[in-house]
Amino acid sequence: MALDPQIYGAFPTARPRRLRYHPGVRRLTRETILSPDRFIHPLFVREGKGVRAPISAMPGQFQLSIDELVKEVVELEKRGVGGTMLFGVPETKDAVGSDSMSDDGIVARAIRALKEVVGKDFLVIADVCFCEYTDHGHCGVLKKCGRGDADWDVDNDATLANLVKQTLVQARAGVDMVAPSGMMDGMIAAIRRGFDDAGFERIPIMSYSAKYASSFYGPFREAAESAPKFGDRRSYQMDPESSPGAAMREIALDVQEGADIIMVKPALPYLDIVRMAKDQFPGLPLAAYNVSGEYSMTKAAAMNGWIDEKRVVLETLNSIQRAGATIIITYWAKDVAEWLA
Ligand code: PBG
Repeated sequence: MALDPQIYGAFPTARPRRLRYHPGVRRLTRETILSPDRFIHPLFVREGKGVRAPISAMPGQFQLSIDELVKEVVELEKRGVGGTMLFGVPETKDAVGSDSMSDDGIVARAIRALKEVVGKDFLVIADVCFCEYTDHGHCGVLKKCGRGDADWDVDNDATLANLVKQTLVQARAGVDMVAPSGMMDGMIAAIRRGFDDAGFERIPIMSYSAKYASSFYGPFREAAESAPKFGDRRSYQMDPESSPGAAMREIALDVQEGADIIMVKPALPYLDIVRMAKDQFPGLPLAAYNVSGEYSMTKAAAMNGWIDEKRVVLETLNSIQRAGATIIITYWAKDVAEWLA
């Protein structure tokens, strides 16, 4: 894309600053425009009444009981945010994550409560995973894979059956869209088939297609109480140092399996992957998840007075959109909707 001086001219006829003097001209020539209805606000829901428990590693974010969640979501809707994505923090955890597969589980009840109050334009999305619901903190059913005490790993295919159960619970509760984040092979095909067989063929799947085993999830694991009790997630989430082509392969598989929206996560350290996904899969809407660590780092600097939070956040979200993501999942959705109003 070299600029041909024959076409673009050269100084002094060419003066790029001419487009920058007048604020109206700057506005007119903008291309990346943030819009709150393309933001999704992740929220954490837990048991109790009147609970609004601050998450210490994520100032300004809370674990909410269902009644408080309803108030929060009504406010998001009022501000024009596109939707929320729910993460459940159950009271009791077990080996398989039963709470998430029960019609009476925390997320199922939260979805039903929300769908009673929100208008039909506002999206109630559910994250689909097991790490918040299992006592071991891994994203599925475990199976022994060696002799040692810590030689357990997530059993891919056994987990698929449970993912179908979890998503059917969410579908029956009235969820508008599901977002599987566990990085199991074949998860999109399994969920799609489960939905279609049960008559939920209209519910879209937003897949966390290229999700990296990132250290930027640290604060989230406090928020969702989902840190693995042993080991790490490197046998299922992507290696940050792997080839960008590996991310394209993950996305291609999800597209073949029936994903409706694809996602790259985290956003900022992987903007090259966002751009590549946008270029290689122009037929699908692309989302990026501006994750907890990205939020907390900026928040910490802002609280210290080192940066201007509002301007840094807007510039950050702008960069994610410019890289190619039209849908942004961000803990700033509520604030930004207010700033842009
Ligand atoms: C669940 C899940 C995680 C995040 C979203 N879904 C944590 C993880 O994979 O450990 C992270 C979100 C964030 O950091 O904001 N698998």
